[in-house]
Amino acid sequence: MGITLGLIGFPAKHSLSPWIHGAFMDKAGIEGTYTIYETKQDDLEQQLKKLKMHGIDGFNVTVPYKQTIMNYLDDIDDAAAKIGAVNTVLQQNGKWIGYNTDGLGYQQSLRTAFPNLFSGDKHVLILGAGGASRGIYYTLSQGEFPQVDIANRTKEKAEAFLPLKSDRTDSKVIDYKEAERVLSTYDLIVQTTSVGMKPHVNEQVIKLEKLSTHSVVSDIVYQPIQTQLLEDAEKRGAYIHHGHAMLLYQAQAAFQIWTGKQPQVDSMLLDLEKRLR
Ligand code: ATR
Repeated sequence: MGITLGLIGFPAKHSLSPWIHGAFMDKAGIEGTYTIYETKQDDLEQQLKKLKMHGIDGFNVTVPYKQTIMNYLDDIDDAAAKIGAVNTVLQQNGKWIGYNTDGLGYQQSLRTAFPNLFSGDKHVLILGAGGASRGIYYTLSQGEFPQVDIANRTKEKAEAFLPLKSDRTDSKVIDYKEAERVLSTYDLIVQTTSVGMKPHVNEQVIKLEKLSTHSVVSDIVYQPIQTQLLEDAEKRGAYIHHGHAMLLYQAQAAFQIWTGKQPQVDSMLLDLEKRLR
């Protein structure tokens, strides 16, 4: 039968994870299945009981259960506990252990595309302070970057992130107007809000007039792949980083937790892009 993997969430039917993990299993020479368990809130408990009974080896968790799932786990990895969300569960000797690979996946996708960002004292600005942003902020503020600032429409939500950072990283909250003013001081700008996502494709969260051509602008939105913000950044001569890479690398990190194997993902980027278009 091989390894049994899956995804629990709602909606989840159209997820690309079965394709991604199917390809990983092929690459790693591992037999197995990756099944989508699209589950409504009222059926969640029952569904989890079934998965436990059948001894599922591991599964991903997506909206709206990344927090709720924590009530059903036997153990939670430190980073996931701090982030307050779990997207990957490993079964070990009948126990369920929760992890969060969103931030790591994002960081890895960035490291692959722009290794130079990880040397020297690079300054980072994160736009947005929602669920996706929290894992990214946690990961980037563990010491790889000396400065990771956050701008968000609702300031209090960004301020609530600050205790997540390590002592090796400084951090402050600014507003979007300030972000526009001091934009040229950042080497990396990470867009994590839903602004620019289909169907609001003509919107962008900040203006890029002060953007430096040396900077990288990264958008975690992948529908569309080329957001208005990235289009603007590219026109201004800056470097751009598309969101779909994060999807592959967070899956790679989950696959490694389940199997110990780290399949190559670079060759899948183009294919993923085609599937998303
Ligand atoms: P996710 O889990 O995808 O990150 P979320 O938790 O709902 O989603 O967070 C959405 C993010 O997009 C937040 O940063 C939100 O800003 P607020 O915290 O101020 O709500 C941001 N966002 C959504 N719509 C926005 C808009 N029209 N303008 C500015 N920011 C917006």
